[in-house]
Amino acid sequence: MKHIAILCSGGDVSGMNAGLKRFVEYSMMQGLKPYFIENGYEGLIDDMIYPATYSHVSGIISRGGTMIHTSRSKRFREASWRQIAIDNLKAHHIDALVVMGGDGSFKGMQKLSEEAADIRFSGIPSTIDNDIAGTEYCLGVDTALNMIKYAIDSIRDTASSYGRAFVIEAMGRGCGYLALVSALTSGAEMCLIPEIPYDLEQYKEKFLKQKAKGRKYFIAVVSEALKNTKQIEQWFEQEIGIEATPMVLGHIQRGGNPTVYDRLMAFHFVTHAIDGLLDGKKSAVVCHDHGGFHYKEIDQVVRGKRQISDALMQLGREYGHS
Ligand code: F6P
Repeated sequence: MKHIAILCSGGDVSGMNAGLKRFVEYSMMQGLKPYFIENGYEGLIDDMIYPATYSHVSGIISRGGTMIHTSRSKRFREASWRQIAIDNLKAHHIDALVVMGGDGSFKGMQKLSEEAADIRFSGIPSTIDNDIAGTEYCLGVDTALNMIKYAIDSIRDTASSYGRAFVIEAMGRGCGYLALVSALTSGAEMCLIPEIPYDLEQYKEKFLKQKAKGRKYFIAVVSEALKNTKQIEQWFEQEIGIEATPMVLGHIQRGGNPTVYDRLMAFHFVTHAIDGLLDGKKSAVVCHDHGGFHYKEIDQVVRGKRQISDALMQLGREYGHS
């Protein structure tokens, strides 16, 4: 194995740049020639492949996003475009490819690994949604949670001063992890996620009692998956009798200065990805669970969805009860 490449695919996360820095430095340390692929699988199809140098990664560790850009590629779903991508990898004599991305990106990697027998692949779970099967942690989650924490702490200041309800919508696609952890760690009064059934009547009874005792504001965190932010805002106004404001946090959750934890995790993920490839692994994903790093076969990872842990679910179920 001599030439190794990396690409970022799907939604960017903070920590990818730290991963790219480690990728260049550790590849060179191992006597490999590192390559960057711009713009995810789109760039792979369009041959946006070039040798990576130390100067590319100097000064990027503190920046969110990814300096090599990312994309969601429709073309990559078609075998004919993937064949062009494989031809491009071969033209650059690339023997191994590291993919930083989420479940869609890993499905792409799975296809590539089936179609390119002589190239090795390694996946690094990177999505703020934290919904990849086989890993308890995906790169970028800690930074996203901290961004949400800053937002909710600020909203609480104004909510408590002005006497208002705020309905804060957190990202996560189909997964309520970000919303649940954010609600718990910011002391929200309400948390609605798709994994836990909820009863608005129960919340109503509890909130009206609290209001009668003098409570002036409420913070609700709802998962984007439920698509009910507006409805909950109206519910507060009509059923609880308090002015309410919806707040879709949106893409600020994906950006920002990566936390120390994400920078460190990026280093570990990339180190393990390269070690696994050097070890001969054909198509593994580096997973972090039970306190350590493990390699899991791509087929096993793309087959399922990560479930929120029982301990967190237990805390989530306490919401809404008096
Ligand atoms: O998968 C990451 C994510 O940020 C989800 O949480 C969100 O639903 C989606 O991407 C947003 O996608 P886009 O950036 O294409 O709007």
